[in-house]
Amino acid sequence: DSKHLYTVIVLGASGDLAKKKTFPALFGLYKNKYLDQNTRIIGYARTKMDQTTFEGHVSKYIKLKTEADKAALQQFLKLCSYQDGQYDQDKDFQNLEKHILEVEKASGSTARLFYMALPPSVFIPVATSLKRNNYHSVEKDGILTRLIVEKPFGMDLESSRKLGRELGALFNEDEIYRIDHYLGKEMVKNLMILRFANVIFGSVWNRQSIDNVQITFKEKIGTEGRGGYFDEFGIIRDVMQNHLLQILSLVAMEPPVSLSAEDVRDEKVKVLRFIPPIVKENVLLGQYGKSEDGKEPGYLDDKTVPHGSKTPTYAAATLFIHNDRWSGVPFMLKCGKALDQQKTEIRIQFKDVPGNLFTGLSRNEIVIRVQPNEAVYVKMMNKEPGLGMKTIISDLDLSYSSRFNDSVIPEAYESLILDALNGDHSNFVRDDELDAAWKIFTPILKTIDQGAIDPIPYAYGSRGPKGVSEFVAKHGYTRGEQAYVWPLHSEA
Ligand code: BG6
Repeated sequence: DSKHLYTVIVLGASGDLAKKKTFPALFGLYKNKYLDQNTRIIGYARTKMDQTTFEGHVSKYIKLKTEADKAALQQFLKLCSYQDGQYDQDKDFQNLEKHILEVEKASGSTARLFYMALPPSVFIPVATSLKRNNYHSVEKDGILTRLIVEKPFGMDLESSRKLGRELGALFNEDEIYRIDHYLGKEMVKNLMILRFANVIFGSVWNRQSIDNVQITFKEKIGTEGRGGYFDEFGIIRDVMQNHLLQILSLVAMEPPVSLSAEDVRDEKVKVLRFIPPIVKENVLLGQYGKSEDGKEPGYLDDKTVPHGSKTPTYAAATLFIHNDRWSGVPFMLKCGKALDQQKTEIRIQFKDVPGNLFTGLSRNEIVIRVQPNEAVYVKMMNKEPGLGMKTIISDLDLSYSSRFNDSVIPEAYESLILDALNGDHSNFVRDDELDAAWKIFTPILKTIDQGAIDPIPYAYGSRGPKGVSEFVAKHGYTRGEQAYVWPLHSEA
């Protein structure tokens, strides 16, 4: 598969996603020689622009650290060209086709990767136009087609199924690569290895040993600039239903038969199907207001957010997995914007040690720090050095910054685009997986959309709404008797 030489066509080339993620990732791959030097990149969008303006878009968010980077960017830009057009006009897509054919003729490319960096409203019109005007079969024309698509994949089970049906009528499942960029993150990809390549973790990874699991996403920034978009979706659709649930399925799934994409995804779907829909009692919502010093605006201060909106910018929800491994173990998903710090982590808390041989114990925890400062650390009790038999909490700390100092951790989008070029679906979302995910969230989202749950206000830059500590305590999380701060914890 890797023998294919690609033309990458980025639809929505003037948008934020393309500028911030797609082009920088393509450049990263190019720079590190993962992209064939004959690959060509074509941007397509409605905006009329000349080559220089387009190059400005492509390079806007690319970070150049060295002279070699600068030189590489100049080479990279030579591979890029642009074509403007509407999203629903056949004649524009025929122009695009001419453009692609010229590029293919010059480069010798035999495969097309269409990257749909588009707003949901034009998603199906573009897919339809592509199929009509820019699609070739491998059998007849020897041109391979792959399609990368980005969330939102609908608003709920029904709209997601509708979208799936419409897209499925145009492209085969094996041509479609649904991105959840969390699946491209180093520590998320590490989960299967941690669990299935370590007896010491694998054998305790169950309800007999584990008391509760928390998966937490925190961001410092609010919804500045995209409040209008965000308000329709809310934090559950933006982060929890996709990124956090993907992490959950990798934490909780059974070992796959093999590492093949279908074997892995079979297990991910299966574990999701054991999760009943989230109930209202297990949800806590928040919405940020002004910062305490009054400098940062509240969510509702954004002009693009409807007056009096109840859309949550923070959510905590507890899920249960009704299977033999996990029955009774709460999985708490928490995510929020405009908080005190940026971090994503998985915290697996073990049960209390039985008996009363020692006092002052804290529970064992395995913490997988997804970002920033990638790490895996295990909180454990130790003998306090010195005379006596006092216990002290300590840790086994695998921090990437010290242990893998020389390694470069790839950007999530680099990893995923490379997978798509290589035809590897393992880290992309399958249609039935999406369906299973929506089933868990749709009922509670309906309740929230009806305005039946009032979000608790919290200040911009704070730790989140009041009640979060009680929420996690209610589901079993205990702080332990000894204070503990992870040494590398970057911020308070
Ligand atoms: C996106 C969400 O999917 O993920 C954003 O739409 C969020 O709201 C982002 O900020 C977080 O991604 P990362 O890689 O910065 O953690």
